[in-house]
Amino acid sequence: MTILDIEGVNLHYGTVQVLWDVSMRLEEGEAVALVGANAAGKTSLMRTISGLMRPSGGRVALFGEDITGRDPAEIVRMGLSHVPQGRFLFPQLTVRENIESGAAYLPRAWQVKDRTMAWVIDLFPRLGERMGQKAGTLSGGEQQMLAIARALMAKPRILLVDEPCLGLAPIMVKAVFDALGEIKKQGITLLLVEQNVWKSLEFSERGYVMENGRIVHRGTSAELLADDKIRKAYLGL
Ligand SMILES: Nc1ncnc2c1ncn2[C@@H]1O[C@H](COP(=O)(O)OP(=O)(O)O)[C@@H](O)[C@H]1O
Ligand SMILES: [Mg+2]
Repeated sequence: MTILDIEGVNLHYGTVQVLWDVSMRLEEGEAVALVGANAAGKTSLMRTISGLMRPSGGRVALFGEDITGRDPAEIVRMGLSHVPQGRFLFPQLTVRENIESGAAYLPRAWQVKDRTMAWVIDLFPRLGERMGQKAGTLSGGEQQMLAIARALMAKPRILLVDEPCLGLAPIMVKAVFDALGEIKKQGITLLLVEQNVWKSLEFSERGYVMENGRIVHRGTSAELLADDKIRKAYLGL
């Protein structure tokens, strides 16, 4: 079943066009990598999908329903959560309060928040040990886990994750990927932007490559990892 269907999306910031005719489709349960150099438009595409930006053309459909230009909170309610680049946690609030905030304004998710929280703490035991600690005092890796945990509180069927490992130590990178693997195993569809292109393609079944706001390659991860142009441009080989 198609979960997310993006067709011919254009996006402008003022008069500057940053997305050009972007099309992409995600089937339920798959992990898809979105690869591209700095400023290619990956974050802008994710922000357009989750309703934070309104495209100037094209269409985004979630579960077959047109959500173009819809309110971001409504899109979360429909089952799409977004872990933004930069995390945007509440540094003065505790880990518990940050996690809970992911279910706020979502009556159905709020009703089952204790059970959902038990599940996310199971995914991220480090957070369970730090529930009363202020988010701003966590390490970078723990903050990233917290950002993912918060997004999971909405009980998404699809999760967009933007640069989760930026600036993290290798051991934390591994912990984040382990958690993403567990999330995937539980059937949640993933769209992943990650600097470590090798790791993100190894993790995903398929990938899209973006350059200057356009999708320039698409294929299975095996195809992309074997492609000479991609090996040179993104894998340093
Ligand atoms: N709020 C904004 N206003 C104007 N231009 C922006 C804004 N956000 C991003 N851009 C521009 O859009 C382009 C794509 O950026 P972005 O989506 O962040 O790329 P990526 O995530 O691939 O690094 C860049 O040229 C960037 O400077
Ligand atoms: Mg980005």
